[in-house]
Amino acid sequence: MELTGVDLTTETVRTERLLLRPPRPEDTDPVYRACQDPEAQRWLLALPEPYTRESARAFVEEIAPGERADGRALTTIAEADGELVGACGLHFVTGRLGPEIGYWIAPWARGRGYAAEAAGALAEWGLAHGAPRVHLFADVRNTASLAVARKAGFAQEGVVRRCLQYRDGSRGDAALFGRVSGD
Ligand SMILES: CC(C)(COP(=O)(O)OP(=O)(O)OC[C@H]1O[C@@H](n2cnc3c(N)ncnc32)[C@H](O)[C@@H]1OP(=O)(O)O)[C@@H](O)C(=O)NCCC(=O)NCCS
Repeated sequence: MELTGVDLTTETVRTERLLLRPPRPEDTDPVYRACQDPEAQRWLLALPEPYTRESARAFVEEIAPGERADGRALTTIAEADGELVGACGLHFVTGRLGPEIGYWIAPWARGRGYAAEAAGALAEWGLAHGAPRVHLFADVRNTASLAVARKAGFAQEGVVRRCLQYRDGSRGDAALFGRVSGD
């Protein structure tokens, strides 16, 4: 990645319908409400459970700004018409898979293709800033997320078996998706 001249603490990305911007304290309430959703709890294995107001406050005030300030990730809130509709992040993990994308859309904003729009834009941002490839993992049973990845221009590159650990300790398989420039 070539991030010289990029101020990650303020960086925003615009798409046709979305503004991908840094989280701010007023996002706590909608992030809290969105993350009560059982689908979010089911598929986002790193989400604290139970997801409390404090979890949301920590995410918007400390975790996401910290990731940006330390150059670890471009963590964004997706906003449409001034309303929070979800979150999407590009994590600058090193290693051969390249930066990793993650996303969720609030239950009240689903069904409009926002996740693919956000993920596609952050993938393009990463490629434009010198990443040779960008990747994401989706649980092989998460049909909505598999569709999002394809719609965002990613190609499925394989299935990584038993790499997911669920909350009950059992394990599952994830589809590995990659996007390179020219895809
Ligand atoms: C996955 C998620 C981000 C998609 O949100 P979204 O952008 O509103 O997605 P959409 O409803 O526009 O659907 C995207 C695609 O998935 C399909 N889809 C949506 N829900 C589906 C379902 N339950 N079963 C099968 N396909 C589904 C849609 O038909 C659409 O495909 P199409 O464009 O080919 O028609 C959202 O469901 C979510 O936040 N889930 C919980 C968190 C999560 O799973 N994050 C991803 C972790 S890898």
